[in-house]
Amino acid sequence: MEAFDTNVVPVRWEGNWKSGVLHMLDQRLLPGEETWYSMTTAEEVAKGIKDMVIRGAPAIGIAAAYGVAFGVRAAGASFKSGTAEAEALFELLKNTRPTAVNLFWALNRMQALLVETDAMDHNARVDRLFEEAKAIMDEDRANNLAMGKFGADLMPDGARILTHCNTGGLATGGYGTALGVIRATNAAGKLKHVWVDETRPYLQGARLTAWECMKDDLPSTLITDNMAGYFMQQGQVDAVIVGTDRVAANGDVANKIGTYSLAVLCKHHGIPFYVAAPISTIDLDTPTGAEIEIEQRSAREVTHIKDVGIAPEGVNVAHPAFDVTPAELVTGIVTEAGVASAPYGASLAGLTYSPQ
Ligand code: MRU
Repeated sequence: MEAFDTNVVPVRWEGNWKSGVLHMLDQRLLPGEETWYSMTTAEEVAKGIKDMVIRGAPAIGIAAAYGVAFGVRAAGASFKSGTAEAEALFELLKNTRPTAVNLFWALNRMQALLVETDAMDHNARVDRLFEEAKAIMDEDRANNLAMGKFGADLMPDGARILTHCNTGGLATGGYGTALGVIRATNAAGKLKHVWVDETRPYLQGARLTAWECMKDDLPSTLITDNMAGYFMQQGQVDAVIVGTDRVAANGDVANKIGTYSLAVLCKHHGIPFYVAAPISTIDLDTPTGAEIEIEQRSAREVTHIKDVGIAPEGVNVAHPAFDVTPAELVTGIVTEAGVASAPYGASLAGLTYSPQ
């Protein structure tokens, strides 16, 4: 078996500042097909994020950072921060997906570096920007490894853990957030089983998490989302852990649609409900979950599975891609700096980004 924590990554950087290429795995085609695209422009990266070639909060941020470097490379030596040209580049990358704060976090970091390097020689500057994008990716992976250890400590021996959506290597710089905790629990010899929610309608659980679990020989079973309550009632779930796209300052958690229902089920059954989040996903500028923009996605993702229609033509469809779980339902938020717990206002405010 290949080492688990290195074999699943969503992007690979190859080359130097001048001609380097970002290879991006097309997650829309998994698990059937492993197709990699070679991207060299900010426009291609923005389209890749928008069209879900790449998805998952930290992975979107990593891709956007590379997008900035590509944009500056293409613009040439006349590119300066604070100009209409710079604004257009950031708008292009921002207007891709609204909910995951990691996108904006990574863009802010690249923006600060642009200002700092305005006087630098163009070639050296582009090199520095690519270096920063790579650092964002490497730090994310290292943070996930640290988070994994803190999360694994929370799990009982023989843990049967339920998870939702895909939070693994594919969604991050590697290893994963919630799936990273599950990996670390397995490495600690404490994992008995993973219940993988299929995650309707986009099926990130069935297509991606089940694939990652099988690649790494994690004992796992795929279930449809509406089976979670059944297995909890049967006493077969010891903990739930999910990732998140944005944690508000008060501890409210936005994550893939269906997460809130799981948290409510956990409360009823007395099961701990954990969230794994790098500090880059904690948004202290958003006071509560009510202020988080929820992405509304296409009706076709609900009415069709691949190209097969499963609903009457013309039916009314709603498709909020995320929901918000109130802080009071969250047992703990596992970060790379430790586990935050209620009252979240104080515990989250005490965390600062500290790459591991
Ligand atoms: O729509 P997606 O697939 O980008 O949604 C992903 C999720 O909701 C994940 O749970 C979240 O980004 C955390 S990933 C580490």
